[in-house]
Amino acid sequence: MYEKELGIIGVGKIGSAILKRIISTNTIEKNKIIIFDVDKEKLHNLSKELDVDCANNNTDLVNSSKHVLIAVIPQVMDHVLREIETAISVQHLIISIAAGVSFTHITKIITEPVSLIRIMTNTPALVGAAATVIAHNENVKEYQLEFVKKIFSSVGMVVELEERHLDAVTGLSGSGPAYIFIIIEALADGGVKMGLPRAIALKLAAQTLLGSAKLLLETNIHPAVLKDMVATPGGTTITAIHELESAKIRATLIRAVEAATIKSKSLNSAKTNNIR
Ligand SMILES: NC(=O)c1ccc[n+]([C@@H]2O[C@H](COP(=O)([O-])OP(=O)(O)OC[C@H]3O[C@@H](n4cnc5c(N)ncnc54)[C@H](OP(=O)(O)O)[C@@H]3O)[C@@H](O)[C@H]2O)c1
Repeated sequence: MYEKELGIIGVGKIGSAILKRIISTNTIEKNKIIIFDVDKEKLHNLSKELDVDCANNNTDLVNSSKHVLIAVIPQVMDHVLREIETAISVQHLIISIAAGVSFTHITKIITEPVSLIRIMTNTPALVGAAATVIAHNENVKEYQLEFVKKIFSSVGMVVELEERHLDAVTGLSGSGPAYIFIIIEALADGGVKMGLPRAIALKLAAQTLLGSAKLLLETNIHPAVLKDMVATPGGTTITAIHELESAKIRATLIRAVEAATIKSKSLNSAKTNNIR
């Protein structure tokens, strides 16, 4: 019935990263994809570079696509939803990656009992290493869920959770890359303070983060056990750990996730109360 398998509204940083990964991993054939963006230069350059069709507007995109991925910033979500409202039918699956725009909010504009999926991904999607969480409403069918899992597996790891967890996910993995970049930068500064060349210190810090995460994910060993493997009695590591614990690193990181979660909740409730 629909000519295209996937339509993407908004091909900015995240939308284009997802599009490129879907194509490079052959997740969907490129002739089954259509894109639209208000930035016409970006749209046409990407369409030419990747050899995918572009729509004339969001309504045309929805009319030709079975699954519609909306990858615009939360501030323009309402505008996009109002634009596509009349073109949406119950056959469509709408996938939103806009942070904090709830199902309740979306269904105040899209009143058809449509299948909706919300995604919280993160910037490592740009290199195929995202942590993505999927939440769906009651209309979503199993095959639609599998389709979305397939798309987001092309940009990294995918887990499914209920919508009520998405604020905590935002506080942990959505905002998380920023916390990790601060940690990497600080570790590199430590190396520089101790005389290492800056570029080398940065590489060592980043690879240490990457390697430690890989070790944990691939072995499934508890982080406390992996930490103990490094900390020789009376050695350098336990001396550094004492410093970290004295500075309350654990409490600080826990509070950071808590604060971001609370902020996400407050932004969302303000948004939901603000419609129409
Ligand atoms: N960046 C992150 O760390 C991150 C992480 C997780 C989730 N997200 C979510 O991903 C979404 C997209 O973020 P992003 O960083 O990719 O944003 P972005 O780079 O600004 O991309 C959004 C694109 O949508 C275009 N656009 C605006 N209004 C439109 C409309 N009415 N129809 C079609 N296209 C329109 C924008 O064009 P103009 O630039 O001309 O306005 C831009 O090219 C956000 O909702 C964000 O919450 C982002």
